[in-house]
Amino acid sequence: DKGGHQHFMAKEIAEQPKVIGEAILHYLSDDGKSVVLPGKGVDFTQIDRLSLVACGTAFYACLTAKYWFEQIAGLPCDVDIASEFRYREPPIPARTAALFVSQSGETADTLAALRFCEGKASSILSVVNVPESSIARESDLALPILAGTEIGVASTKAFTCQLTVLYMLALKAAHDRGAIGDDQLTDHLSALRALPSAFNTALEGSQAMAAAAQKLAEARDILFLGRGLMFPLALEGALKLKEISYIHAEAYASGELKHGPIALIDKHVPVVVMAPRDALFDKTTSNMQEVIARSGRVLLITDPPGATEAADDAWITLTLPQVEPNLTPILYALPAQLLAYHTAVAKGTDVDQPRNLAKSVTVE
Ligand code: M6R
Repeated sequence: DKGGHQHFMAKEIAEQPKVIGEAILHYLSDDGKSVVLPGKGVDFTQIDRLSLVACGTAFYACLTAKYWFEQIAGLPCDVDIASEFRYREPPIPARTAALFVSQSGETADTLAALRFCEGKASSILSVVNVPESSIARESDLALPILAGTEIGVASTKAFTCQLTVLYMLALKAAHDRGAIGDDQLTDHLSALRALPSAFNTALEGSQAMAAAAQKLAEARDILFLGRGLMFPLALEGALKLKEISYIHAEAYASGELKHGPIALIDKHVPVVVMAPRDALFDKTTSNMQEVIARSGRVLLITDPPGATEAADDAWITLTLPQVEPNLTPILYALPAQLLAYHTAVAKGTDVDQPRNLAKSVTVE
């Protein structure tokens, strides 16, 4: 049942404020002041390092979580693509927890990476959408993301629910390790509770995103740029677009632009710049100017203060509500998804069942 939507992907995108809200409430204590994990939970004072492993979109959720665990909790993280990790067979230092992220919980490479860590990592954690899955069953602690069944091959609500659960885990790690106090934890959690409503406001801008996608649909190549927390989002935006619209899209950390990809810029290449008005905004807008100086067309995704400063120079500006800087990756997933969705609809491709792709990759 597509719930009145043209595609499952559209339905799953629209469900996000609801399922993100449910995931938040699931892990929030009754008084709203702490994060509660199931079973024995995790004691982050006993962990010196976190190794995050996944494939595809789940890998981008891990890359995002690295910023949170390192910046808020001071916990060093490694992030690996499961197929690289399992064959590299990296040393696992003492007091390292391994964390596997998978919507299906059945991805062959992620499961093999988990099995490699058995007996080596101090604990095996997973963030999954399917609680009965192999990855969940073989973990010491499985954290469900509660996104509900995801049918569209392009992952949408599972990504934002993965991010939500990973963010709450990072906040718990920060509190356990004394990096933030009770008041800071409460403040972060109340900002998080306001996220579903910001997401609803962002959904009201869907038409502008659809209109921008009509223009992207004419392009052969598209670049995505982002810094800090927006870099993994740029990767996710490019992957979504490739998967369902078959347009060649690549993502770079904004600071890498002049180390090669700037050679690609001309008036035919739209450049999607994801840049909330945060501490890195000026750096990213200066990269934006480098694109514009070479006749590149910038599609800027930002918030109202960012739009006031930079919209005049952009080809198209999409404006999202302003949220706590740590929460921007969850919110900015929406334009990444909707740009890909409407570009695919404009091109007439099979949105829910894109060619050559399977929902669950259970072979290597
Ligand atoms: O089920 P998993 O989360 O382990 O799947 C991982 C990837 O196969 C998956 O995220 C894939 O990249 C999606 N099609 C992305 O939209």
